[in-house]
Amino acid sequence: MRWLGNKTALLEEILNAAVSAGYSGGTVCDLFAGSGTVGRFFRAQGHRVVSTDLMKCSEVFQKAYLETTSPPTFEALSEYWKNLEPLPVTRLSNVENPDLEKWRPFLCLSRYLEEELPPREGVLFRQFSNAGQAQRNYLTPENAARLDAILGLLRSWIKDARIEEQEVWVLLASCIDAADRVANISGTYGAYLKTIQKSALRPIQLRAPALVFGPTGQANSKDAIEWVSEIDCDLLYIDPPYNQRQYPANYHLPEILATLPFENSDERIESSVYGKTGLIPWKEKASPLCSRRGSDCFHAMQRMIENSKAKVIVFSYSEEGILNRSEIETILSNWSGGDGRRTPKLIEIPHRRFRSDSDENPATGETRRNFKPAPGRTRDQVHEWLFVASQVSDVTGVK
Ligand SMILES: C[S@@+](CC[C@H](N)C(=O)[O-])C[C@H]1O[C@@H](n2cnc3c(N)ncnc32)[C@H](O)[C@@H]1O
Repeated sequence: MRWLGNKTALLEEILNAAVSAGYSGGTVCDLFAGSGTVGRFFRAQGHRVVSTDLMKCSEVFQKAYLETTSPPTFEALSEYWKNLEPLPVTRLSNVENPDLEKWRPFLCLSRYLEEELPPREGVLFRQFSNAGQAQRNYLTPENAARLDAILGLLRSWIKDARIEEQEVWVLLASCIDAADRVANISGTYGAYLKTIQKSALRPIQLRAPALVFGPTGQANSKDAIEWVSEIDCDLLYIDPPYNQRQYPANYHLPEILATLPFENSDERIESSVYGKTGLIPWKEKASPLCSRRGSDCFHAMQRMIENSKAKVIVFSYSEEGILNRSEIETILSNWSGGDGRRTPKLIEIPHRRFRSDSDENPATGETRRNFKPAPGRTRDQVHEWLFVASQVSDVTGVK
């Protein structure tokens, strides 16, 4: 799915950076997993990956990418799909070299869910489509009711133990991704668009998530700052949020989708929805790494990295982030060398700035936020930083 700050375009650079610091294989820890693409990439290369992210919707993708061991068979659900024709193989376009026979159950069950299952007017229909009182225009009423029906059925399968755990993650990742493709937003879920865009009018289509099968890893939704001390790994990849945008307030709808199948009914979630955009309470998930108050961000980062037992750290950040270059270098060099004399290597990668609808009015192109580009950059240019620090060799450059 589309995820603010995802590193899909930097995967090779991350691997090369790690190798340059002496990483030659072993366990990778992806500490701020987001879309899960970094962990998936490393698993596909044959590495064991453990990961975490505060968001439940991230955990769904992490589980699908890191813990799934084969395409889902949906054996206990065959009555739903065995007499149906599979959906077109284009629904497998995310999967590299898919085995069509093995993916047949997914394609047939998806046909049932998309075409045979009657829609249901549940929490998504009432709270996140313009059919509801609050007129939150995130999904068309048809798509919202279709998702309500699928997630409700998934809930009953989980309750009756008719679906394997891995099958849940594959189906749920597919639903969240399908919703994301038709969500009436531009960028994040921090705002919906007043008028429905063409892409949001398309009926939802379930696609197979881009599963890869390597060593089985482990996915989590724990707080990275606490969890890091429990993890022994060869490579720690750190991709924290770098500005004040809190993810739970910008991805609340995917979070609700990820949560609904594990509830007894829609009731608890629906009664907690509030405000113009239909947030659910999120403050307990607010990250100190998004805080500009005092040195909250610096101290949280310092504590986290101090507690890491990794051999190599690759640290992603934006040059426009809350922490500045020398703060990051101080934290990493203290971790690396003890005496603070080992300066981490810095790789700078030019990047096009991410803008979402809350930054830019699509009708006028007008920017609402006041960007201050770094010296020497245009408004659309920003440099992505990759710091590399190591406790295993001197390749990071001892001064
Ligand atoms: C820049 S994004 C990571 C993007 C990810 N590397 C990708 O490729 O999709 C930062 C992530 O940090 C997560 N996050 C923020 N604070 C956290 C914390 N204390 N513990 C775990 N995850 C946290 C956010 O939910 C968000 O997904």
